[in-house]
Amino acid sequence: MNKGRYMAIPPGAIIPGTLPDFSIYVLTAQGKYVLWALQGNNVSSEQLDRLSENETKEVFVNLDENFKYEQYLETNLGNILENQSTPDEQKAEIFTRVSTNVVKGAFETSYGLGTMGAADLRRTRQLIENSLQFIKEARSINALAKMIGHDYQTYEHATKVFWFTVAFLQHNPGILDSVVPGYQALDETQRTDILRQCGVGALLHDIGKAFVSLQILTKSGPLDEVEWEIMKRHPLNGLAMLIDTDLPMFVKKAVLHHHEDFQGGGYPMNLEGTNINTLARVLRIIDVFDAMTSRRPYKEPTPPMKAVRIMIGAPEDEEKREDQEQDDRDLGMRRCFDRDLLQRFIVFLGNVRLEG
Ligand SMILES: [Fe+2]
Repeated sequence: MNKGRYMAIPPGAIIPGTLPDFSIYVLTAQGKYVLWALQGNNVSSEQLDRLSENETKEVFVNLDENFKYEQYLETNLGNILENQSTPDEQKAEIFTRVSTNVVKGAFETSYGLGTMGAADLRRTRQLIENSLQFIKEARSINALAKMIGHDYQTYEHATKVFWFTVAFLQHNPGILDSVVPGYQALDETQRTDILRQCGVGALLHDIGKAFVSLQILTKSGPLDEVEWEIMKRHPLNGLAMLIDTDLPMFVKKAVLHHHEDFQGGGYPMNLEGTNINTLARVLRIIDVFDAMTSRRPYKEPTPPMKAVRIMIGAPEDEEKREDQEQDDRDLGMRRCFDRDLLQRFIVFLGNVRLEG
């Protein structure tokens, strides 16, 4: 045990009735760390109430058990966000921490981009904090918590799509001018606002999967006809979850249209071309790219550059794919994407140096 090295954690991270497999300490007025909850033991709501009566803002975990704490947060993130008695600032801190770790993990493993530097990590944290603030102001945090509580994997995917969407649009600020109908030649402040709203749309795009059973979401073979019909409802369910929130209309539309194909044939409305709004067309690309490059219960991850070749519709990959029984959840075909946006996305990927 690493004596004397502790890190502060918010009491709101601890959900009553769970059995954290790390010990928790409190700091006395004399500067001593005293055991408050032994690992593997139930923490009761009475214990937590006593902390808040004493206005204790921090408890502590030994740094050696940091990994277990991170895992505990991942498992319980949905519950933590839904817990009414946890102060908002503690929820924000926890959400930001877990989401930053998700982005860092993907950056360094699935995308093979190497270690994420301190500056990138700081920027990522800031982006997530800002987005969460916006989600809170737009009264859509409960919908987000519901999705996270239902399926952590969907939340991980959404977080990665969020990071890629924001990074891509920062790299192509001109695209932001076409995001909101009627707005053009935006000034710097407007672009920053719209960029943040696009990030929120990316984070919430699959929120309707909260209504799709885990059995379907994690099925290890192709979906049957009925399952596929249920899966195809998630954009509409997502819109239903967000319709009464204060999110901008283009964000709600992007949630509804992120599976529409540029050349038609997508769902739920079979729209085409620029009838699909800009953010939905961007999400169509990044959603497929992340789905292909991620490990899923039913498939191994596709290396990033191979994913790009498939998305472009490179002939050698098309041929190979004819022999393979692919799950349509991850199919990226050339008719799906706005070619101009796809080209820009590939240039952007070149700049972040993907391997594979
Ligand atoms: Fe989706």
